[in-house]
Amino acid sequence: MVLLVLLVISIVLQFFAAGIAIRLTRKTKFSSSWILITIALVLMCVMRFDEFAHKLSDRTDGRTDMIVMREEYYVWVGILTSFCFAVGIFMVKKVLNYLALREEQRRNSEKRLLSAVIRAEENQRQIISKELHDGLGPLLSSVRMSVSALLQQPLDATQKEILTNTEYVVNEAVKSLTEISNNLSPHILDNFGVARALNTFVHKLQPMCPATRIVLRTEGMRDLRFERDREVILYRVVCELINNALKHAGAANLTIDMQADGDRISVRVADDGCGFDPETEPTGMGLSNIASRISSIHGELTLDSRPGGGGTRVSIRIATR
Ligand SMILES: Nc1ncnc2c1ncn2[C@@H]1O[C@H](COP(=O)(O)OP(=O)(O)O)[C@@H](O)[C@H]1O
Ligand SMILES: [Mg+2]
Repeated sequence: MVLLVLLVISIVLQFFAAGIAIRLTRKTKFSSSWILITIALVLMCVMRFDEFAHKLSDRTDGRTDMIVMREEYYVWVGILTSFCFAVGIFMVKKVLNYLALREEQRRNSEKRLLSAVIRAEENQRQIISKELHDGLGPLLSSVRMSVSALLQQPLDATQKEILTNTEYVVNEAVKSLTEISNNLSPHILDNFGVARALNTFVHKLQPMCPATRIVLRTEGMRDLRFERDREVILYRVVCELINNALKHAGAANLTIDMQADGDRISVRVADDGCGFDPETEPTGMGLSNIASRISSIHGELTLDSRPGGGGTRVSIRIATR
């Protein structure tokens, strides 16, 4: 009796599973592997039902009207079930491989899109920088020359004061224009490469942050040139890491080590400041921009930091091609 009850439970469960499998067929877009697994589940239900009929017929000495499968059919149904399961599972493996491939393709196309966006943004910056430098720059320079020429003329005290003020304002405008144009697209980066551009960046920054000693080591990198996109990405990423260390770390020392190793470049930016928890939701876009820029050129990025004065270490590895 217990066996009969257990068989009924198993039949109910198998019918339930087969029913769900049938309902999911449409959702799986009639995937052949799912159809085969569903058929196998239905066949298993048939077998269980047959076992039940056998047991019932044994208990009632053949007085039930239930149709009982002949033993050879039972074996064939078993073979068919195993076949459907085996082929179905094999095909699921193929579907999973296909899905993994699609996921990989999706990630690659995302990276390509990201790198196209970054490239377009950099090109735009370069165009604006060039327009400012080559268009507005000479105009301001000629205003400055005219003001200087006027200052040589005999003038009364008021006129001289106005012109001296004008000369000061024009000089400031020229300085600020050069800075804006340089921030948009550093000319030194295009002309001399990332190591020298970073050197200039650090030299400009150091006097403004006397509390932090910045050390930049670029052995073997000074004359190394590589793909422009990669140079720009590396430059922007390292500048942001330096900015972060100066802005947030309160560090006494900041070291930037840059090394070329064959067609790979490694950069390590380390500070001995307060550190932070990289798992907490960042307030700014700096770190996420760094991650997406490095990912767009298939580089590696590791960030090691924890709050409590342990400092922050960031390592980057990218290929030059
Ligand atoms: N070197 C660092 N030392 C200490 N904290 C840092 C450092 N770099 C980043 N952080 C922390 O991570 C946060 C996110 O940085 P980021 O994404 O660059 O945004 P933002 O600089 O605009 O705040 C910062 O607000 C800061 O709390
Ligand atoms: Mg930042």
